[in-house]
Amino acid sequence: DTSLVIAPRLLPWYDRHARELPWRKGPQKMRGSGDQRELAVPYHVWLSEIMLQQTTVATVKAYFLKFLAIWPTVEDLAQADLDQVLTAWAGLGYYARARNLHRCAQVVAEELDGIFPDNEAALLKLPGVGPYTAAAIAAIAFDRPAAVVDGNVERVIARFYALQDPLPGVKTEIRTLAAKQTPQERSGDYAQAMMDLGATICTPRNPACVLCPIQAGCLGREKGIAAELPKKAPK
Ligand code: ADE
Repeated sequence: DTSLVIAPRLLPWYDRHARELPWRKGPQKMRGSGDQRELAVPYHVWLSEIMLQQTTVATVKAYFLKFLAIWPTVEDLAQADLDQVLTAWAGLGYYARARNLHRCAQVVAEELDGIFPDNEAALLKLPGVGPYTAAAIAAIAFDRPAAVVDGNVERVIARFYALQDPLPGVKTEIRTLAAKQTPQERSGDYAQAMMDLGATICTPRNPACVLCPIQAGCLGREKGIAAELPKKAPK
């Protein structure tokens, strides 16, 4: 049943409705055809994903642009003084992230010829890069079919499959289903489309199911319980 497959409906929706975020622009302009975007620059993807770990998209935009203006390349960031990096980071919080950011830039610049690894296993070895960030960089910067599961994606998957077991226990099942849905083509666009769907349509409260490109086949919607999912175990 094709209505159980997410990507063929989500990608055309993304082509029309993708949020314009500064780290999504590729080295070239988007191609004229309107579909297939240029892959984003790995340094940009890495920097934005580290910043987005505990900070909202709205706040990250300005910091991301400021960092790129000061340090246009990973080599520039590697050569910065840690103090300058911490000063530029002020307001984003969690200063361990900024220290790891600087260390990671030095590893990439000095040990990897300034080139970010293109696979999750190698990315995971970098300072400050955990499983989520490794998957996000592999998918978004290199179009690898990595399962990128953040809070938005957890919500979309829990609703689509009407998973009624609470978080965090249900995470393993969500990961398995998310991995099954991840397409082999346009994996980076798919990862970002799932995030955009979760942020703009499949929202925590009052999801806009009538606007959703995957409303057909969404079991949470069918059962009328989408807005209640995912459930959380009482603390
Ligand atoms: N949150 C974390 N990473 C993101 C991305 N690449 N696009 C939108 N929201 C995000």
